[in-house]
Amino acid sequence: MQIKKLAILTSGGDAPGMNSAIFGAYQECENKNIELFGAIGGYDGLIDNKFIKIDYSLLSGRINRGGSVLKSGRSPRFMQKVYINRAVKNLKANNFDGLIVLGGDGSLRGAISLRDAGVNVVAIPATIDNDLNFSYTLGYDTATNNIVNAIDNILDSLNAFNYGAVIKIMGRDCPDLINCVAEAVDTNLVVKDKDFDLKDLIKKVNQVKNKKTCPPIVLVLEDCADTTSLASTLQNECKIQMRPHILGYIQRGGSPCAYDRRYGITAGKMAVNTLKNRECVMIGICKDELVKKPFEECFKI
Ligand code: F6P
Repeated sequence: MQIKKLAILTSGGDAPGMNSAIFGAYQECENKNIELFGAIGGYDGLIDNKFIKIDYSLLSGRINRGGSVLKSGRSPRFMQKVYINRAVKNLKANNFDGLIVLGGDGSLRGAISLRDAGVNVVAIPATIDNDLNFSYTLGYDTATNNIVNAIDNILDSLNAFNYGAVIKIMGRDCPDLINCVAEAVDTNLVVKDKDFDLKDLIKKVNQVKNKKTCPPIVLVLEDCADTTSLASTLQNECKIQMRPHILGYIQRGGSPCAYDRRYGITAGKMAVNTLKNRECVMIGICKDELVKKPFEECFKI
């Protein structure tokens, strides 16, 4: 298919490597004489007809940074047919031959709605949560390292005082990030369920405390428990200072690691060529290889 003009957007929580993927798509478009535009702020950009032409000046100095040069967004409006239709109308009016979507599972649902409305759309899994049916989503390794580095810093102070900590970790309802971090910082104190066994946790915190080898670090997945009140309960029960930490955007921000940059750039390039074939698929990593999967096969659960 002859392609002259494409759009790209970033949606959901930003993931380190999104800018690399935009750069990869831009490079491929330059090579193939295709114009590339970004929708500002995710799906809302499509609804409100807000596009920006992507050129090198937009990307310069940002390829090695996290966040998104196009700004990301979560669009409750995009769940309604009336706004999906408006987005499709805008894509047609601007003569876009296809769209690249970067995001997680919510963004994938948006891509499916557009495909069903006749839009030529390709998606790339980009989320620190690793919650899609690929072995890896863009940004996951960078975020894991961000968290591990932050915990290493926290550990320095914990060790200096013999304190413990309760640390809230992102990941929404996907435990991949917290499991990976738990292994990397060597803790078995992990809360991944709202109805976790508090008695068992107290027992394990006491065991770690009594071993005196390393401070007890309890990792909590998102809202499975209130970090501050859990720290205070454990402090009372285990007779050790337990400091609450909410890492927040320290986890998502920062420079993408080399792997995320490479994956982002390569997937961005591949997305442009996939749109040329009018294949509506997600392009992600399985067993260290970039593969294409139909949208419906990309949900994890
Ligand atoms: O999807 C990425 C993510 O960071 C999740 O881990 C987390 O639940 C959510 O986004 C936080 O969203 P917000 O940035 O809107 O608070």
